[in-house]
Amino acid sequence: MIQVDHLSKIYRVHKKEEGLKASIKSLFHRKYTSIEAVKDISFSIEQGELVGFIGPNGAGKTTTLKMLSGLLFPTSGKAEVLGFTPHQRKDSYLKQISLMMGQRSQLWFDLPAIETFSLNRDIYEVEETQYRTVLNELTELLDVKDVLNQQVRNLSLGQRMKCEFIAGLLHNPKILFLDEPTIGLDIAMQKNVREFIKTYNKKYNATVILTSHYMDDVKEICKRIIMIDHGSIIFDGSMSEMIKEYANHKMLKPIFNAPVTRHELEKIGEVVEFEYPKALIHVPREQTSKKAAELLEKFDVEDIEIAEPELEEIVRVVFEKKKKI
Ligand SMILES: Nc1ncnc2c1ncn2[C@@H]1O[C@H](COP(=O)(O)OP(=O)(O)OP(=O)(O)O)[C@@H](O)[C@H]1O
Ligand SMILES: [Mg+2]
Repeated sequence: MIQVDHLSKIYRVHKKEEGLKASIKSLFHRKYTSIEAVKDISFSIEQGELVGFIGPNGAGKTTTLKMLSGLLFPTSGKAEVLGFTPHQRKDSYLKQISLMMGQRSQLWFDLPAIETFSLNRDIYEVEETQYRTVLNELTELLDVKDVLNQQVRNLSLGQRMKCEFIAGLLHNPKILFLDEPTIGLDIAMQKNVREFIKTYNKKYNATVILTSHYMDDVKEICKRIIMIDHGSIIFDGSMSEMIKEYANHKMLKPIFNAPVTRHELEKIGEVVEFEYPKALIHVPREQTSKKAAELLEKFDVEDIEIAEPELEEIVRVVFEKKKKI
């Protein structure tokens, strides 16, 4: 459904030099520099997949999403989505996708959201009955009935984001390109939006590619992760593959009944946190059960939890390891 082959994007930017003389000179002899934002990336995505596209600032995530949604011409390589070449921007293609950017609004700020919705209905030629049905459904799901008639500029960020979702989904797209959909939202709203994305994916078997700097988004929503750094893909696989490959430890979290010392615990593994009665100990993955048993045997333990490392930490390890290569 999405096929990307050796896709690259080089931005050509006008280089400005300091000083008046240089400015005048540059009017006649423009100097350009190139920024390789995306370098030779390839992947394919099936219908219904939930893919997290993650990487540090400037990694090339937004650039890739813009190429896939047809806003940008690739410099080289090929992208094919639903059998279309995105940058040709055919109507029949644009009607099946939606690009939503948390940082940029598609709503008209001086108008109530409902006006943007009906404008989108006309642009996308959504049939009236479908429009009504989807609008009612989304309004209900996102709980925004009361704000649709208020001027958008007066809405809270969370209310506005919900309206952005409705505006982007009225034409019932098969593919959602979500660029930081939860940015700036409070914890409760982030959770709502995540739930909503999952529900939409299930209900319509829609394909979702999302970028986010919040690892909770990725953990909650995505089955597959594509990591990108300096324009290149450094990991593509499932969450469990990533854990298996890069997290070589597990965490033991005991709560003790009787005092212990940090020194004693260091015999079990790497003591990362210790504040009696709680501790956090890292142990090699393959020795987890042995080390847990040892802990239970040697100490008076009230409770113990065995957990996977946090996603943030695993992601950091992947980036660090790949950088060294
Ligand atoms: N229109 C543009 N003209 C020139 N350079 C650009 C343009 N847009 C992006 N870039 C550059 O391309 C690189 C990739 O940018 P991009 O916006 O794709 O990163 P990103 O992964 O989305 O980062 P972030 O997490 O900060 O959103 C950066 O070095 C950026 O400065
Ligand atoms: Mg971006």
